[in-house]
Amino acid sequence: MGKATAIYYFSATGNSLAVALELAEKLGAPDPISIPGTFMLDDPYAAAREADRVGFVFPVHRATLPEMVRGFIEMMPKRADCYYFAVSTYTVFGCNEFWDIDEILAAEGSFLNYAAGVRTMGNVGLGTPGSRLVEKRLVSISKQVDEIVEAVTYFKESSFRRSSKLLGMLVKKYTDRRRRSLVFNINQGCKKCGVCVQVCPANNIEFIDGEGGGVAPIRSDKCEACYACLHWCPANAIETRRKLHTHYHHPNIKPEQLRMVNPVQSKSEASETDVSRSVSA
Ligand SMILES: Cc1cc2nc3c(=O)[nH]c(=O)nc-3n(C[C@H](O)[C@H](O)[C@H](O)COP(=O)(O)O)c2cc1C
Ligand code: SF4
Ligand code: SF4
Repeated sequence: MGKATAIYYFSATGNSLAVALELAEKLGAPDPISIPGTFMLDDPYAAAREADRVGFVFPVHRATLPEMVRGFIEMMPKRADCYYFAVSTYTVFGCNEFWDIDEILAAEGSFLNYAAGVRTMGNVGLGTPGSRLVEKRLVSISKQVDEIVEAVTYFKESSFRRSSKLLGMLVKKYTDRRRRSLVFNINQGCKKCGVCVQVCPANNIEFIDGEGGGVAPIRSDKCEACYACLHWCPANAIETRRKLHTHYHHPNIKPEQLRMVNPVQSKSEASETDVSRSVSA
């Protein structure tokens, strides 16, 4: 008790943010802090400097942690006396994300004290999750969060294994190639609402000034390939070469919340807007 906790999150479709919010509430910790949101701050690591417990919540991307989260942890000032924990959200399986974080921390004399994966709704490849599945998963996610809260409250340590270095490397190699060749197209259905600009963690989409307006094509050099833009677009106007896409976002999260440093405040401010869609069955 009385220990300061800082929780940092990255989230494309809201699953990790929902977990981070529930975790913070149950731990009695301050609101979780958006990793892309910290780039607007003078000191992105201010909360971590003051905390006895520092947590990271993020989705598994390509068998490990998202590049932006990796960069954030690499640049973070590490403290040997700080308790570090990580929570990944995943659809099928996590892989090397905890091992990779541990390696980053170990390079500067710290280590990952506790790690847990939370199985959530999928946002890639396997079809849009139906409402029954979402309902069932939300219950099991809460139970998983309770276990994490219990562990983190008492500063428990956990072991985590490198699931498969080879599998992780193969998945990453294959998906990195696809990522580099990722081309988005914004079709005629675009309503110029700007939701894609708002949710992009990499500031990779821009409004076009002048006649016609709209949003500019996505610059692939900065792209995290997180698919947030595609999932949140209310007109399903963002396509890749594959054309057929899953469209999903967490039912209780608003797009305005994703990159906010204070998502709880953002949620109440955003409650009157109507830019989010509910999960389709
Ligand atoms: C680019 C990309 C890669 C992913 N790779 C994996 C993976 O390797 N294993 C897995 O179980 N889920 C994978 N997923 C699914 C997400 O980890 C999962 O849906 C997560 O809960 C999304 O969290 P978010 O809503 O906070 O972004 C991937 C999703 C995306 C967009
Ligand atoms: S979210 Fe979709 S409809 Fe809105 S500006 Fe972006 S592409 Fe257009
Ligand atoms: S442009 Fe790239 S980084 Fe931005 S939301 Fe879309 S997929 Fe994610």
